[in-house]
Amino acid sequence: MNKKITILLSAILLSFTVISCREVTEPAADPVVFEPTPAAKEMVMAGAAPEVEVVIVGDPASGSEWFLNEGCNACHSTGAEKIVGPGFAGIYERAATRGYSSPDDYIEASIRYPGEYIVEGYSNLMPASWEEAEKQEIADIIAYLKTLQ
Ligand code: HEC
Repeated sequence: MNKKITILLSAILLSFTVISCREVTEPAADPVVFEPTPAAKEMVMAGAAPEVEVVIVGDPASGSEWFLNEGCNACHSTGAEKIVGPGFAGIYERAATRGYSSPDDYIEASIRYPGEYIVEGYSNLMPASWEEAEKQEIADIIAYLKTLQ
């Protein structure tokens, strides 16, 4: 092989080696450490746990579905007719006369703890199956019962 070419190739090879070695040996940049001041820390913590008031809005259409899916209609008519339990016509207005802090409170208690207040003329026959009902489900059924006049 031509000596000049050999030298040239060696030079090229050498420069590659130098470049790759440089890449390997180059020290990594120091990691950036974020040291918040006490005030900044408080702001971060306050931001992590904001006090948000959750407002649950009842949806009458979902309430109507829940009423049927849960089988409430086996014992409650949506009119004045008595089945096993009272008919639900005008239930929201009646709920305001039960001595609870609000009609919503009374309906929620009637569903979660049926034995807590027994409607006059009825027996404690409503199953206690809904103690763990979702807040949203309760809001929806209340919104639906409000529509029954
Ligand atoms: C096995 C029959 C039965 C089923 C099923 C049933 N209930 Fe009742 N419910 C009753 C009876 C009986 C009463 C009346 C006695 C009492 O107050 O517990 C009643 C009372 C109520 C009251 C109070 C009514 C008033 O006039 O003050 C509400 C509200 C109510 N039920 C909601 C529901 C909902 C919502 C469901 C479905 C998730 C449901 N019930 C399922 C039997 C039932």
